[in-house]
Amino acid sequence: MKTILYVGWALSLIDLTDILEVILILIIYAHPYPEKSLVNQAMLERVSSNPDIVIRSLYDLYPDFNIDVEAEQRAVDQAQLLVLQHPMYWYSSPPLLKLWIDKVFTHGWAYGKGSVALKDKSLLWAVTTGGEHDHFQIGDHPGFSVLAQPLHATAIYCNMRWLNPVVVHGAYAAAPDSLHSQIEHYYARLASWKED
Ligand SMILES: Cc1cc2nc3c(=O)[nH]c(=O)nc-3n(C[C@H](O)[C@H](O)[C@H](O)COP(=O)(O)O)c2cc1C
Repeated sequence: MKTILYVGWALSLIDLTDILEVILILIIYAHPYPEKSLVNQAMLERVSSNPDIVIRSLYDLYPDFNIDVEAEQRAVDQAQLLVLQHPMYWYSSPPLLKLWIDKVFTHGWAYGKGSVALKDKSLLWAVTTGGEHDHFQIGDHPGFSVLAQPLHATAIYCNMRWLNPVVVHGAYAAAPDSLHSQIEHYYARLASWKED
């Protein structure tokens, strides 16, 4: 079976069966305009040198929003760490990621009696924002402990281990040094996620 995977900065055709045994970290990437991305693209380029990582770019795989649920569940089955990476859109995710969760996290697989597919896997939310860090301080706009609640609750409901989110702030205006260090932090978190 040939499945389009997003590997680093190039779209490649890879036989999924070749990598079934080696996926430790699965990044589900949801950027509606991947070719226009700066920050998420830089993050993927940085982490793609980690051989444990497989990236699935939802908007490249499913431009028609017709998600192949079985293929997605097979990919998740192989991973120990599931990363949901996307730009923040209206304090939430782009719509295809929400649809992906709705479709892929099925009753009897993700939750419900006897469901073990996600049990003890880790979930990491990796999100980029236009807003700077202080935009999200409580009292101004809701902070990340609030914004993360739907995903955090989903992780708990599916018996997953919730990791502290990675947030890359200031996508438009941050100084290059700041973006660079935030992206390095993302790389380091993925390299050492088992210690979280
Ligand atoms: C439709 C839309 C909604 C957005 N909503 C938010 C938001 O709620 N909060 C925020 O900080 N940034 C928001 N942004 C800014 C994006 O998060 C930002 O463009 C993105 O993180 C940059 O990443 P990229 O270079 O990979 O595209 C929004 C952008 C768009 C286009």
